Amino acid sequence: NTIAAIVPAAGVGSRMQHNTPKQYIQLAGKTILEHTLSKLSQLKSLSQIVVAVSQTDPYFDTLSPIDSRIIRANGGQERADSVLNSLLFLESNPPKWVLVHDAARPLVSINDIETLIAQCINDDEGGILASKVKDTIKRGHTYSEQTVPRDDLWQALTPQFFKYDELKNALHSALAQGVTITDEASAIEWANKPVKLIAGRSDNIKITTPEDLDLAGFLLNKQHN
Ligand code: CTP
Ligand code: MG
Repeated sequence: NTIAAIVPAAGVGSRMQHNTPKQYIQLAGKTILEHTLSKLSQLKSLSQIVVAVSQTDPYFDTLSPIDSRIIRANGGQERADSVLNSLLFLESNPPKWVLVHDAARPLVSINDIETLIAQCINDDEGGILASKVKDTIKRGHTYSEQTVPRDDLWQALTPQFFKYDELKNALHSALAQGVTITDEASAIEWANKPVKLIAGRSDNIKITTPEDLDLAGFLLNKQHN
């Protein structure tokens, strides 16, 4: 049951409007990417931690060493391309499972990751961390046209945990057919394979816009105390 982690970290962070890609913003003493990698390095079950960064990224190689399992790979145009490139990077000695986790989610709970891995391996099915939608959800443009029942709505988080072969095949064919893929689960669903929903902490936010920084910094400082 070998497990490799894949960390997509090749985005430019356009919504953050910062002078570096957001994964290199300093928060609570280190970069967001270093926080994320320190979290993953606590998982002894990982054989490798593949970090997909842009081929021209000048920052990654300057980070202080965190874990000997970390390897740099080339990202791609979209997040799904970065993940597929990382899967292909592992092709010569593929793991049985892969755990894909956004660089931009440093707040993830190790306990939640362990639950996700245990439940998926136990049932021999892939799955994702997700959190039940809390707000009332509206559909519309200028005016609300409808209130969407939220009892079966979830926010997809990461990590997302799938069998290596299943994810590689699903991502490859979905991308080849031009399907919009925003997470691993959307490719697996498209391939008609099960995606187990594992309830995870809702503070596992994806740091995306400037207003996320204060909250994330506060929570990261608290986790270290
Ligand atoms: N990502 C990636 N390769 C891409 C695009 C995104 O590896 N071509 C990564 C990001 O670095 C991030 C994660 O996927 O860790 C989630 O993506 P997102 O939050 O959208 O980050 P960005 O694409 O960088 O931000 P934005 O969409 O605002 O530009
Ligand atoms: Mg993006």
